[in-house]
Amino acid sequence: MKCLVVANWKMNPATWREARQLFEAIKKAADRSAHLSVVVAPPSLYVRSLRERYHGRRLAFAIQHARAETQGAHTGDVSLIQSKDAGVQYAIVGHAERRAQGETDDETGAQVGEALSLKVTPILCVGEAERTSDAMYFEVVRRQLRAGFAQVDPSHLQRVIVAYEPVWAIGKQSAMRPRDMHEMAIFIRKTLVDLSMRNGPLPTNKKEPTATAMGVRILYGGSIDEQNAPAMLTEGDIQGFLVGRASQESARMRALLQALDAVA
Ligand code: PGA
Repeated sequence: MKCLVVANWKMNPATWREARQLFEAIKKAADRSAHLSVVVAPPSLYVRSLRERYHGRRLAFAIQHARAETQGAHTGDVSLIQSKDAGVQYAIVGHAERRAQGETDDETGAQVGEALSLKVTPILCVGEAERTSDAMYFEVVRRQLRAGFAQVDPSHLQRVIVAYEPVWAIGKQSAMRPRDMHEMAIFIRKTLVDLSMRNGPLPTNKKEPTATAMGVRILYGGSIDEQNAPAMLTEGDIQGFLVGRASQESARMRALLQALDAVA
């Protein structure tokens, strides 16, 4: 399976002109990266226009945040069904910056469920705000996973991508250590195996629930750049990245994709 790189532009860049330029640069770099799948998550205002201008096959689009409700009185928000209609194949769910603004665990569960029903791949973000010595951060991640997967049939776990983003490593100078990511990846898979067993074993003609849970893709996010990404990919037990700042500048994103393509 190819390494997945999700470019989370957040509320950048400031103009449509710059968005087009950044997208063109990422498109070129993605075309040269045979071992990577690249997903661009622009601000929702730019999604449809970028999608319509793009005629290649290597890139896909994600919405950074969208509501589960089909329509309604939600000033300023967009829905998943609108995002699907605009051409996205992925939806970031429960990013730390949305949770900080009050997004609840239940809302993330509803968004994952709705995305799956629309055949949009949810990228469920989980991650603790801080690391305390009592290892409570595992509990935080378990709770977020349980809620996020609440509406997912055990045989469909692999349709969801998990992005582990420790809040304390987002927007900082350095990423977490690969060996700590490796430990967290084991914990996430173990939690998903437990979730997959919650309704008892599946009928024998279906894949083993354990195998299904073990196959869920895990991404890492938080201060990733071309320096730290290769070791994280080879030692962190992950299948890709959710990238903020390094995806918002053409030269940095080019360098990141090049560095990853060499080890993927
Ligand atoms: P960062 O952001 O790469 O700038 O740390 C990551 C994210 O928030 O997804």
